[in-house]
Amino acid sequence: MNLKQPWLPYRQMQTAPKSMMAVRTEGVRIHLADGRILIDGIGSWWTACHGYNHPHIRQAVQKQLESMPHIMLGGMVHEPVVRLTDRLARLLPGELNHVFYSESGSVSIEIAMKMALQYWINRGVNGRTRFLSFRDGYHGDTFAAMSICDPVDGMHRLFKDVLADQIIIDLPRDSQSLHNFEEKISAHADELAGVILEPLVQAAAGMKFHEPEVLSAISSIVHRYDLLLILDEIATGFGRTGTLFACEQAAIEPDIVTLSKALTGGTMPLAATVATGNIYEAFLSDEYEKALMHGPTFCGNPLACAAANASLDLFETEPRLAQVTMMESQLEAGLSVCRDYSVVADVRVKGAIGVVQLLHRPDINHLREQFISQGVWVRPFGDVIYLMPALNINSDDLQQLIDAVIHVVKATSS
Ligand SMILES: Cc1ncc(COP(=O)(O)O)c(C=O)c1O
Repeated sequence: MNLKQPWLPYRQMQTAPKSMMAVRTEGVRIHLADGRILIDGIGSWWTACHGYNHPHIRQAVQKQLESMPHIMLGGMVHEPVVRLTDRLARLLPGELNHVFYSESGSVSIEIAMKMALQYWINRGVNGRTRFLSFRDGYHGDTFAAMSICDPVDGMHRLFKDVLADQIIIDLPRDSQSLHNFEEKISAHADELAGVILEPLVQAAAGMKFHEPEVLSAISSIVHRYDLLLILDEIATGFGRTGTLFACEQAAIEPDIVTLSKALTGGTMPLAATVATGNIYEAFLSDEYEKALMHGPTFCGNPLACAAANASLDLFETEPRLAQVTMMESQLEAGLSVCRDYSVVADVRVKGAIGVVQLLHRPDINHLREQFISQGVWVRPFGDVIYLMPALNINSDDLQQLIDAVIHVVKATSS
């Protein structure tokens, strides 16, 4: 029977090859309907940090399903959401104690931006209505999120005429560019609600890295001008860069942090926007209008919170961060041979992220097909081939992913 097919994300439905049918996942493997098995090199868009079907998360979700799959968070709380809130507050640095839930990374960014805007309104400060963000950044597909993405390579060029006018500059990387950054901040301080960036790794718009010192310098400048620093840890959170949160490496205290992706170990949609006490207190008032004006229907869903609690258990009981350190060494040693190929512009590794950047944009569909024929699920984009697998992948499987990248890079060079 010819069943109707879903309209897929970021896919030219006319020319893209027919999609494969996944029927089962286990550990780092995806089983296809035609019997093929692929080793997953990207953990379902970087979510499945413990691999697929981890029994501890499965059992927690099953147990929650029996007692209460969902209850609205409007005027009511439940044990999984209270426990998760307390744990996130304890794990995040500084005064980040106030957790607002949603169901996707993009929406958690919308909420962070709204929170920052309303923070200034509630404090009686007028005119702070814009954000400063960075080229090569990606923060999601909803309208406020699109407005702070890279305006050229950020996938949202088409909408530039309807997006809010933000200030988007190169990420400073040395003292001269930090000086320029400070000048920009100084010139626009009165109209900025905050500065937003992905800490250490700008992921979906090009897999670009920066050093903790840069992050810490940005933080100092932002706070010197009494602006809010919003860190988007949606991709970097939960161990990916070697610490539970990337901002820990710069020893800074952001005002707002967004989390999603690996929050539930890649099992359920859940996101969080976490704010400091200073932000939260600006919303406390006897005037109803000063409350945060947001409330997604499924925010704080108990199944998702149970999954997130189980995922945090695994960070406590299994050696995830030590595994990331081992992955970093293996990725660096393995991918370094790619530096010798003429098509390669750069090879870089940070934590459990390995990137081979090509000099030119390849035929992406062809490259993706080559990876599938190597028995791996790797999805290059733009000029970037990258690996971001589960954090508990074993070294043989990781080597198979690395070998596939080397094979494809070599084939692209000849
Ligand atoms: C850093 C970052 N922010 C925001 C998002 C958007 O998250 P979502 O796709 O869940 O809306 C992503 C997704 O890739 C991301 O990597």
